Amino acid sequence: MNWFESYESEIRAYSRAYPAVFVKGDNARQTDEEGKEYIDFYAGAGVLNFGHNNPKLIQAVIEYLQSGGVLHTLDMMTPPKRAFIQAFVETILQPRNMDYKLQFMGPTGTNAVEAALKLARRVTGRGEIVAFTQGFHGMTLGSLACTANEYFRNASGVPLNHVAHWPFETHKGGGMESLKTLRAMYENSSSGLEKPAAFIIETLQAEGGVNLASKEWMQALQALARDLGALLIVDDIQSGCGRTGSYFSFEDCDIDPDIITLAKGIGGIGTPMAMNLVKTEHDAHWQPGEHTGTFRGQNISFVAGREALHYFEDDELLSETRRKGEIMAEQLSSIAEKYTAKHFSVRGKGMMQALDIGDGALAKKIARDCFDHGMLFGPCGVGGTVLKLIPPLTIPDSDLLEGLNIFGQAIDRQMGA
Ligand SMILES: Cc1ncc(COP(=O)(O)O)c(C=O)c1O
Repeated sequence: MNWFESYESEIRAYSRAYPAVFVKGDNARQTDEEGKEYIDFYAGAGVLNFGHNNPKLIQAVIEYLQSGGVLHTLDMMTPPKRAFIQAFVETILQPRNMDYKLQFMGPTGTNAVEAALKLARRVTGRGEIVAFTQGFHGMTLGSLACTANEYFRNASGVPLNHVAHWPFETHKGGGMESLKTLRAMYENSSSGLEKPAAFIIETLQAEGGVNLASKEWMQALQALARDLGALLIVDDIQSGCGRTGSYFSFEDCDIDPDIITLAKGIGGIGTPMAMNLVKTEHDAHWQPGEHTGTFRGQNISFVAGREALHYFEDDELLSETRRKGEIMAEQLSSIAEKYTAKHFSVRGKGMMQALDIGDGALAKKIARDCFDHGMLFGPCGVGGTVLKLIPPLTIPDSDLLEGLNIFGQAIDRQMGA
């Protein structure tokens, strides 16, 4: 009996693309029930930045479990929560001269986005949000209204209102000119546009196809938000937490977002956790428990998440991320050069690198071929044409190179080379 096919909902997605029952994980490797190993270039869609079963994180969790520490306490105060807050402030915020309150909510990314949208609307007294083409912000109704993907939007069953979509910088018609147009429209009282509560943006769009906004564009967007009295929300749920070679994806943009949404990697070992960084003056608009949730921080994630923050006490992990990201980009560029006539494009930052092959059916075949040969990754972007690689930041060079090798060979096979 295949219990999954017989009884699990039709909504199953990844398990269709990767038809194996996974039993073990060790850094960048996953093993299935048959004992076959896979090199993981998907890392739980950006959750497992520190690898599967990171020994230091596991040890911290085991010690906590054996100590009889409380596991679930709603949003009550616990030592792991205090330790996480202190470590986050001292390791991440203070060295960057960033001053934010830490808001915990239900533990998935979409919860963080919902909270950010609510607060922006509360602070400004406005209803409209501006999101961008190909942005991905979650599946609950508020965040889904900001998510651009038609397939996901169609599942909503109700109109997704109060969000205007504008071209992301790299989209056709995007760029600086498009922000100028948007500014001119907002300045024209007869343009029909209402001033927004917030702009929500991923500096590096992940699910949307690995599209990177420039410093110049992010600064212009922030200036526009400020001039309109709107908030700037940066959604760093997939691109934050070290993925791009800096803790936040936007650190080289010299911007100062009003709200930063985080989730996925901050829980460290793959247990869920979400957190918004909120400017104090905005945070003051919340009333106690207004955006409540049963799992507003749970202690295993605080313990593992706190342990993971040790990785950011110096530059070692981040410089390694930049170095490995260059290796990935070079390999992808050499594949693109090999197939020059196909006009593949290589995009990314740090250890989120991608090859856009412009063909969703072929991308699926390549992903399946990689799976068959022991490497996991997921296509993304419009029509699924973008082969996005996001291995754990802790992947050893040997696995990185082996995984890239399997990837290159799968492309050759599927291209008939
Ligand atoms: C940028 C971004 N925002 C929000 C989300 C939603 O997170 P979750 O699936 O945990 O609700 C995701 C998930 O992939 C994401 O990549």
